[in-house]
Amino acid sequence: MNASVYAQRRARLASQLGRDGIAIIPTAPQQPRNRDSDFLYRHDSYFYYLSGFTEPNAWLVITGDGRSTLFCAPKDLEREIWDGIRLGPEAAPAALGVDAALTVNELDTQLPRLLENKSTVWFPFAIHAGLEARVAGWLHSVRARVRFGVLCPEQQHDLCSILDEMRLIKDAHEQDIMRRAARISAGGHLRAMRLSARMLREGREVREFHLDAELMHEFRLQGSQAQAYGSIVAAGDNACVLHYRADTAPVRDGQLVLIDAGCELDGYASDITRTFPANGRFSGPQRALYDLVLASQDAAVAATRAGARFTDPHEATVKVLAQGMLDLGLLDAGKVGSLDDVIANRSYFQFYMHRTGHWLGMDVHDCGSYVEPSEVGATSARRDPLSGETIVNRPSRILRPGMVLTIEPGIYVRAAPGVPEAFHGIGIRIEDDAIVTDTGCELISRDVPVRADEIEAVMRA
Ligand code: GLY
Ligand code: MN
Ligand code: MN
Repeated sequence: MNASVYAQRRARLASQLGRDGIAIIPTAPQQPRNRDSDFLYRHDSYFYYLSGFTEPNAWLVITGDGRSTLFCAPKDLEREIWDGIRLGPEAAPAALGVDAALTVNELDTQLPRLLENKSTVWFPFAIHAGLEARVAGWLHSVRARVRFGVLCPEQQHDLCSILDEMRLIKDAHEQDIMRRAARISAGGHLRAMRLSARMLREGREVREFHLDAELMHEFRLQGSQAQAYGSIVAAGDNACVLHYRADTAPVRDGQLVLIDAGCELDGYASDITRTFPANGRFSGPQRALYDLVLASQDAAVAATRAGARFTDPHEATVKVLAQGMLDLGLLDAGKVGSLDDVIANRSYFQFYMHRTGHWLGMDVHDCGSYVEPSEVGATSARRDPLSGETIVNRPSRILRPGMVLTIEPGIYVRAAPGVPEAFHGIGIRIEDDAIVTDTGCELISRDVPVRADEIEAVMRA
């Protein structure tokens, strides 16, 4: 572990708390699954960002003078026999670079002390159930001592407002992990594609869970700790269910398979979608829609660079998709009008109903404002053509080098009157992960091919 990375982040945070500020950051609790089994433990992302520490039952306190104190589980031989080795407060300063470490059992006695004579207390709002009440309890203890001349913090601020901005720009250490995570995920997608074609060639029954297992196998084989989110492995028209999860449905010769899956590596997510023909060969209608989605992704990639707005790739995607829907007869120009009408009235929404991307980082839908901070006041109102609601627009975020986002256009054709039958049940998404650079973006997930010919070639191999 590179303790200095975390020390630098703590120092950057401390410098924004104000001299008499104090920040309190708990990690995540263990989550019970059923009876006495817990879900696989996952630390809190903010806590990890500042500590690199993955044990549960820990808190970090950082003060405006730059001092950091960790509260962690005490050494306990008996518990460690059952649950695993604990770092313990004695070893923590050397291992993590914090200034002091105490056992978490001392939290309620120490926090009032640390809060004394501070002006502002910062903690993540609306993330940890019960944290507000916990802070209130500590402040109550501080207040009980004001008659001895102690000052009690007067302000509470949302720590996320600082940390989200920091996390939005990924440093070199983070970019390196994210490249590796994406490479591992790409390997999983490749294996799943190949397994599908091979099993069908051999006349074996393929089900969604076979491909899901192949992804997971590759993720773990390459050292990833977990999936970044539940994998979507959707055969045939299951792909039109946006939040479908890998299940038991058969994967049939002639169908498309949509896989949206990414591993988590050292606390960082990857998020890749590929759509491929189960047997390794696209049919005509499948290929027509696939090439359209890919062309829309190419347009979005070209629109992703420092200085552009976050919404630019989405707008570029929509333009290409909407034109394609008209050209392929998914939309009837006689009914919906010109390309401009389709965009203005959002007629494309029937087949493309999600945004083209999101921030990616420690969380798959990572933190960070989508509004440009210096322009939050520049509001304008517009009426949504589909819902009729009035929507307050604020200028979209300006992309900067080191931001990481997904680029994930799609098209989902449910059977409906007037929709050409050849396209019924086809769902396609293509999703890549991009690091914004000065001149464009670096696609870090392209170790799995994306062009239709290349997908067919790797599935033949
Ligand atoms: N896998 C979640 C997403 O693509 O947003
Ligand atoms: Mn995504
Ligand atoms: Mn995804």
